Amino acid sequence: MKNIITIGGSNSKNSINKILAEYTGSLLNNVQLSKIDLNDFELPLFSVDVENEQGFSEGLKKLNTIIDEADGFIISLAEHNGAYSVAFKNAFDWLSRIEGKVWRDKPMLLLATSPGERGGETALNIALGRFPYMGGNIIGSMSFPSFFENFKEDEITNAELKATHLKLVNKFQNAI
Ligand SMILES: Cc1cc2nc3c(=O)[nH]c(=O)nc-3n(C[C@H](O)[C@H](O)[C@H](O)COP(=O)(O)O)c2cc1C
Repeated sequence: MKNIITIGGSNSKNSINKILAEYTGSLLNNVQLSKIDLNDFELPLFSVDVENEQGFSEGLKKLNTIIDEADGFIISLAEHNGAYSVAFKNAFDWLSRIEGKVWRDKPMLLLATSPGERGGETALNIALGRFPYMGGNIIGSMSFPSFFENFKEDEITNAELKATHLKLVNKFQNAI
């Protein structure tokens, strides 16, 4: 059984990106889901000085091992001021110090959502441009607009978005 990691690219307790990533994972068949909450990994704020003085934290090593053991990723990025959230960027920077190919060429479904109409598209585009240089094997991507209007009671309520999302899920299922 494939081990698929879901990651909400945020440290909000009620992260809508975590919700979307986990919902997406729940639609896959015959997989074991490992649901990552970035709050569960102790990671200091990255700096080269902290790295030199303290090395890699236990939390970072744990996260890196989880990524190593994964068969694929479903990531949904939060957008803060047109970029990754600090929590995601911090984890990403730390992980890149252990292994430049952070995503190990494993299949990835890349999402982003926000309460706004653009659905985190700017952060998504940053990742689409960067992840391929970091071992990102992006099978499909989607920005999911106006989360609270289009996702209710654990379901995508907008028929068009639901169909687009399901196509992506099927494409990812075939890739893993
Ligand atoms: C500091 C800050 C900056 C934000 N900037 C953006 C933005 O650039 N674009 C956007 O669509 N939403 C923005 N938002 C709203 C977030 O999309 C919203 O808080 C969302 O819930 C974040 O995802 P999360 O729930 O997974 O943490 C911002 C929120 C904060 C707190």
